Amino acid sequence: MERARQRLDHLWRRGRDFLGTELAIMGGAMSWISERNLVAAISNGGGFGVIASGSMAPAQLAAEIVATQALTTRPFGVNIITMHPQLDALIDVCGAARVGHIVLAGGLPPSAAIKRAKDTGAKVICFAPALVIAKKLVRSGADALVVEGTEAGGHVGPVATSVLAQEILPALATQLPVFLAGGIGRGEAIISCLEMGASGVQLGTRFVCANECIAHANFKRAFLRASARDAIPSVQVDPAFPVIPVRALANKATRAFIDFQHAVIARYRAGEIEQKDAQLEIEHFWAGALKRAVIDGDVENGSVMAGQSVGLVTREQSTGEILAELVDQAAAVLTARERRQPTAI
Ligand SMILES: Cc1cc2nc3c(=O)[nH]c(=O)nc-3n(C[C@H](O)[C@H](O)[C@H](O)COP(=O)(O)O)c2cc1C
Repeated sequence: MERARQRLDHLWRRGRDFLGTELAIMGGAMSWISERNLVAAISNGGGFGVIASGSMAPAQLAAEIVATQALTTRPFGVNIITMHPQLDALIDVCGAARVGHIVLAGGLPPSAAIKRAKDTGAKVICFAPALVIAKKLVRSGADALVVEGTEAGGHVGPVATSVLAQEILPALATQLPVFLAGGIGRGEAIISCLEMGASGVQLGTRFVCANECIAHANFKRAFLRASARDAIPSVQVDPAFPVIPVRALANKATRAFIDFQHAVIARYRAGEIEQKDAQLEIEHFWAGALKRAVIDGDVENGSVMAGQSVGLVTREQSTGEILAELVDQAAAVLTARERRQPTAI
């Protein structure tokens, strides 16, 4: 096992060096969930916690960073959604607090935002949903990439992690650290990511039922009951009215969303509302829905964002245990290989 652990440390050394951590496992930022407690617990467990600032104003983010620093002396990052109306101010808060890593998520970040984030002295991590975009982000100065496949919880693209990995890793993994995300729930999957050339991984769903996670008991219970096939992307009923796909557990709200779209589009077809107003109504359906589920515990009328790996979440555990389990599973793959072929690892 000792030898396997050394081999694992070697496999993800680049990711560890980049993050400044013992393990190259990032805790993917989850709005309302990735606050001081879970973030500090992930970092204290040897991983890399990331604060989700999507629902925060700059002053709230500043307070959250200070509170997280009080709970851990280890490195952690801040995730900023590029569509946030106060994008620049949030970046400046990270700069003032000397945050080491800024993750720019939610759409292609403008080059100016990447530059502003880098000028704070932070390392900048960007989401790359396709090779052309990944190359553009590298040209714009991204220091590392997160490549997230459709299996993930939350906002998703259409392509699987395994396919994106084959598209992006051979082209870019030698140039900069690439972290794979989406559908990773066990250590065996981590080994396969690393062996394909990733420097590390990012997991979200797997951390929701951590003891330290503040999500409502109903939210956690929904995760514990769900299987992979319950985590489905939001359904769009008409190509003229696009819906940003979000993967969440099927519930009353996901079903109501379909009826709601039909009703709004019928009003548009009857000439009662303009197309842009109909589109806005559809977009507003989910406003506040994640908070309703995570904080208020209304898991029928809220959005229970979850990835397909939700089927692998079977009990509440401490964050430290989750991380140790992932590492043990990864090391076990290498140990088994060593037994089969003694010189292989
Ligand atoms: C409940 C939930 C909320 C999320 N919120 C965000 C977010 O605010 N910003 C973001 O960049 N990613 C968000 N994500 C994606 C995660 O950061 C992470 O990339 C993803 O969960 C990884 O895939 P996995 O769920 O298969 O582990 C969210 C995911 C979940 C499950």
